[in-house]
Amino acid sequence: MRHGTDIGLEFNEFSKNYTSDMQRCVPHYMDLLESFVKFLPRDFSPETVLDLGCGNGNTTARLLSRFPEASYTLVDASAEMISLCRKQFSDFRMSYENTYFQDFDFKKSAYDLVVAGFSLHHCDDKEKRSIFSKIHMSLKKGGLFLYSDLMISKNSPEHPKLLEEWGGFVNSNFPDGEKWEWVMEHYEQFDKPSDLKEQLDWLKLAGFTEVDIPYRDGHWVFLRARK
Ligand SMILES: C[S@@+](CC[C@H](N)C(=O)[O-])C[C@H]1O[C@@H](n2cnc3c(N)ncnc32)[C@H](O)[C@@H]1O
Repeated sequence: MRHGTDIGLEFNEFSKNYTSDMQRCVPHYMDLLESFVKFLPRDFSPETVLDLGCGNGNTTARLLSRFPEASYTLVDASAEMISLCRKQFSDFRMSYENTYFQDFDFKKSAYDLVVAGFSLHHCDDKEKRSIFSKIHMSLKKGGLFLYSDLMISKNSPEHPKLLEEWGGFVNSNFPDGEKWEWVMEHYEQFDKPSDLKEQLDWLKLAGFTEVDIPYRDGHWVFLRARK
């Protein structure tokens, strides 16, 4: 990935109007984002949090509203995204890693909570499997992995229908059709979504015993896995 189409550079560009673009280009973005706090177990209070693909910090910002005292590690390939996070989170316990997931040093049993919001679909099947194992290894016992994304393979027979509905959503927000064209160019070049069912199998293989899906609308999914 790093040597061909560079995801970090792509998101440097995307960072300019990121939240507004996500809301209008990604169906259910806000519901999926809110899920990261809405579906936390009541008695769960993490001291250490890892945000994989933090982007401009939308997921971490939600978690900070509940857990301002926790220590956060934010990982992203985009220097611009990391810089947006640095600006808004200067009052909190943060560390930043401007790197690729594939190069990130996952420490053993280091985190109570690992989150990945719309970031792992940039990794292919093999990379996802490897990252799931690393996430499992880096969680403390009883720790949670929360993950939202588009979960359907491009080879699925349901994929054409997904694109049709998704295109309808984007075109309703940007009627001239140019944004949908841009979304599809990005999707072709950078997005490698995987089927939900396969990912559930990979999570089990990685060692997660309890996995559930608190929110789902079609192939837009929020899932929760406990170590
Ligand atoms: C669609 S954004 C999601 C940002 C945020 N989590 C959210 O939910 O709004 C995906 C982010 O993941 C980062 N990313 C994607 N693939 C990555 C990789 N292999 N290594 C590190 N960062 C990656 C991108 O740079 C981008 O900032």
